[in-house]
Amino acid sequence: MLPGENRIRDSFSSKFGIIAAAAGSAIGLGNIWRFPYVAGQNGGGAFLIIYLVFVAAIGIPVMMSEFTIGRMAQLNPVGAFKKIAPGKRWHLVGLLGVVSAFIILAFYTVVAGWTLEYLVQSVKWLFTSKTIGFSSMSTEALKAFFTDHYDHFLSGIWRPALWFVLMMFFTGYIVISGVKDGIEKYAKVLMPVLFIILIILVIRSVTLDGSKEGLIFLFKPDFSVVREKPVSVILEALGQAFFSLSIGMGTLITYGSYIRKKENLANTAVSVVAADTFTAVIAGLAIFPAVFSFGISPDQGPELVYITLPVIFQKMAGGFIWAFLFFLLLCFAAVTSTISVLEVIVAYFSEQLDMSRRNATILAMITVGFLGLLCTVSKDLFNLFNASPDLLLPLGGFFIVIFIGWFLSKNKSRKELSSNGAYSVGYYRIFIFLVRFVAPLAIAVLFLLGLYSKISNIFS
Ligand code: TRP
Repeated sequence: MLPGENRIRDSFSSKFGIIAAAAGSAIGLGNIWRFPYVAGQNGGGAFLIIYLVFVAAIGIPVMMSEFTIGRMAQLNPVGAFKKIAPGKRWHLVGLLGVVSAFIILAFYTVVAGWTLEYLVQSVKWLFTSKTIGFSSMSTEALKAFFTDHYDHFLSGIWRPALWFVLMMFFTGYIVISGVKDGIEKYAKVLMPVLFIILIILVIRSVTLDGSKEGLIFLFKPDFSVVREKPVSVILEALGQAFFSLSIGMGTLITYGSYIRKKENLANTAVSVVAADTFTAVIAGLAIFPAVFSFGISPDQGPELVYITLPVIFQKMAGGFIWAFLFFLLLCFAAVTSTISVLEVIVAYFSEQLDMSRRNATILAMITVGFLGLLCTVSKDLFNLFNASPDLLLPLGGFFIVIFIGWFLSKNKSRKELSSNGAYSVGYYRIFIFLVRFVAPLAIAVLFLLGLYSKISNIFS
């Protein structure tokens, strides 16, 4: 008997709960903070097309593979590979995922913590009219305010550190309550609220004067940027697809292990991918029309959400309302993602090291907390962690598709995907083709290109 196999396992209680939790993992800062600025710097509509191709040809098959592994084994990523491929080294892929989870959670929770600071600033603005909070800051002051959070040394580290700890605490609080009574319960409420807020913001943004330019930027493919730097645009698109879909790290192996046998894995994966992609696009729709309407250039980079948007909110009628809604949205999106990453570590600790869920969560919070605090004091470490998913996730994704495509017998994957024959798997041949050839080849080529460009950056 493998460690963890004899434990009673929690599971998601409904189809909607699964989709809310998995979409909650996928939809996060990656969609609302990262996607708009990455698209903004890489050609807008042209980037979107390349991104969509990767999502369909690589994202969906990797996600289905992760769900398959998780649900087949009903264990955390390390235990899952040990169970399905006993005596082989595949569990190292799971271990890579757990290590990636520490790294991603540490820096991601730091960024998530910034949203709390901005939320508090918006609330101050709401209650005190135009005197406190970022309502009264000049653009320069807003820049400095953001840089303080990014460059923590300038004004002391305690505020970002405090927000980080608080965010870690919220995350742990939800995870400690369990899969059904914690993760699923919160995702089912937070995700619908998130969509409502986002739709309200989109309506506000596209009805501003001069917003049309923003729509053109987001939807009209202009390939000039792609022609200028094709490799980097393509790499950004792949990295963004992995990060945004939460794939390549075992998060969805872990969530897959809580999916009941009667659910249809393929249409769950497609729904989650569709929700994630839709959210990235409408986050762009909430942001770019407003950016163009106020005459700001779209390629601001990571500052887009944290400096540019507050500047815009100041100029909008009732700006505090929009600011408050926006940062609340960002905060909800972040929490439903941090819990999914923490869950990977908790499932690993509790099953592989045979700990109670409570102790596993506390141990995970302390260890990640330590790493995250290091990120709030060292910008170099923060930047290193922030850049690492670009390589770690495709690496994990590569082995996951190789495992499903070449190691696991077709009978087994077909059986799992069809829920033992309950669902038709008419897509199976396409799936296997993507998982055997298209995804591994594309990931391998792009991974090597990415590695090469990172190394040549270091030496140049
Ligand atoms: N997908 C989330 C986002 O877009 C972040 C995230 C959650 C993630 N879990 C992950 C990224 C696992 C990579 C792997 O913000």
